[in-house]
Amino acid sequence: MDWGMKNRISQIIKPKTGKTVMLAVDHGYFLGPTTGLDEEPRKIIAELLPYADSLMLTRGMLRTSVDSKISIPIVLRVSGGNSIIGDDLSNETITVSVKDAVRLNVSAVALSIYVGGKYEHQTLKNLATMINECEEYGIPVLAVTAVGKEMARDAKYLSLACRIAAELGAHMVKTYYCEDFEKVIKSCPVPVVIAGGKKIPEKDALELAYNAVRDGAAGVDMGRNIFQSQDPVGMIKAVRSIVHENVNAKKAYETLKI
Ligand code: 5RP
Repeated sequence: MDWGMKNRISQIIKPKTGKTVMLAVDHGYFLGPTTGLDEEPRKIIAELLPYADSLMLTRGMLRTSVDSKISIPIVLRVSGGNSIIGDDLSNETITVSVKDAVRLNVSAVALSIYVGGKYEHQTLKNLATMINECEEYGIPVLAVTAVGKEMARDAKYLSLACRIAAELGAHMVKTYYCEDFEKVIKSCPVPVVIAGGKKIPEKDALELAYNAVRDGAAGVDMGRNIFQSQDPVGMIKAVRSIVHENVNAKKAYETLKI
């Protein structure tokens, strides 16, 4: 791995702890005006940014809703072309050129794969193509193991999806926490971060973050359970204390103003 690639990864996964708190606000790419980001996304993003290690979002949100003077590493979503009401969620394409990602000074790009989905092959090809192009510029690729409604979120399925992403050359993988999550971690040779998923009670989301890191995750790439919380800033701070300081979920929960 070349210096630029390693340097970009260490901007995201903090060398001091080997962990990361990625703030995901890319949901609009297929969900449109997602609750919590629907009005004034710029405001909520600015409030949360000081506590995130990186910001994951689309090109449109970056340009319109984030101050260009910030120094936080950007993880740019580069897949899309689908929607929540469309024919099939797995029907994604690459939406951003590597040239534009470079122009936007990103630290990594992210795209979804739908292993077992109708358009599995297309999304795996998207990943391989992006990796080939990003290797030229030393830009790491985060593969997101997306799951359709019909797909199981168990260790067997998630291990399969994460390992395929790593075998194709993804530098980091984002997946879901599940029972026997250690199996997913053990079979994936690159760092794994977990998504938070749909909004759940704060206590449960903090427990999820704690368990994931305990079981070997390199951190979280969390969105709705932060920006849809009654105390979004408190929530990201609490997640941070779990990920970087090994604070337990109960203690972290007690810091929230809810
Ligand atoms: C959507 C994504 C989101 O970034 C991801 O799901 C993280 O957000 P959340 O914690 O809300 O699930 O990649 O495909």
